[in-house]
Amino acid sequence: MSFGRLKALSGVSIDLAQGVCTGLIGPNGSGKSTFVNCLSGLLHATEGSIAFEGKDVTRFSMRARAQAGLARNFQNLRLFEDLTVRENIAMSARLAGGWRRGSEAIVQDIARTFGLEHDVDARVGDLSWGHRRRVELARVLNGEPRYVLLDEPGAGLDLSERQRLPGIIADLTSRGVGTLVVDHDMALIARVCSRVLVLRQGQLIFDGTPAAAFKDAQVLECYLGERHASA
Ligand SMILES: Nc1ncnc2c1ncn2[C@@H]1O[C@H](COP(=O)(O)OP(=O)(O)O)[C@@H](O)[C@H]1O
Ligand SMILES: [Mg+2]
Repeated sequence: MSFGRLKALSGVSIDLAQGVCTGLIGPNGSGKSTFVNCLSGLLHATEGSIAFEGKDVTRFSMRARAQAGLARNFQNLRLFEDLTVRENIAMSARLAGGWRRGSEAIVQDIARTFGLEHDVDARVGDLSWGHRRRVELARVLNGEPRYVLLDEPGAGLDLSERQRLPGIIADLTSRGVGTLVVDHDMALIARVCSRVLVLRQGQLIFDGTPAAAFKDAQVLECYLGERHASA
């Protein structure tokens, strides 16, 4: 994937499996969001191809990919600020084409999962950042995706809100959803992911278990900095 003369991603090839949580880590600017953007269809890769469940979706729009079962969040939230929490959650069902998920009972159930049951009638623009982040996750999951791409889902959350994340991600994995989680919190990645990918300057430098990643000299050097490399 190139932006003008900058090669933001090069030769990165991975397969994601259903029911597996994969972590994607790397320094700022290493290409993580670009990768998520290429997979989700927000960006169209300038080279290479993207297949989803055996079907080539390289030319599919983001919406067509969502309808095929591939959902994502955004590092910077994209919510309908003037609509209520309930309306935002119900909206995803329609966007994903799963009209059944718009039902009131299901929206209430999902709102409860994210601790939003007292806020369903609140206008999203009036909520705290942490609440909005939860609304966003609730909306992603309401579309009943088979694969979810989470770009820094913990960004801007306070500690107690972050503590909900492992449970939410583990729940998704146990329901058979394949997830790709981009996060700087190595403890979170180690806890919920069985596999971790490491990007450096647009190249995949590691693909293996979190335990092996934490022992890999290249990973330690690029991700944790010289402090660790020289230790
Ligand atoms: N729309 C864009 N236009 C030009 N350059 C971009 C664009 N998006 C990202 N980049 C560049 O691509 C590289 C990777 O960025 P990004 O994928 O956002 O990294 P990360 O999410 O790992 O921090 C960076 O050098 C960034 O400046
Ligand atoms: Mg990013």
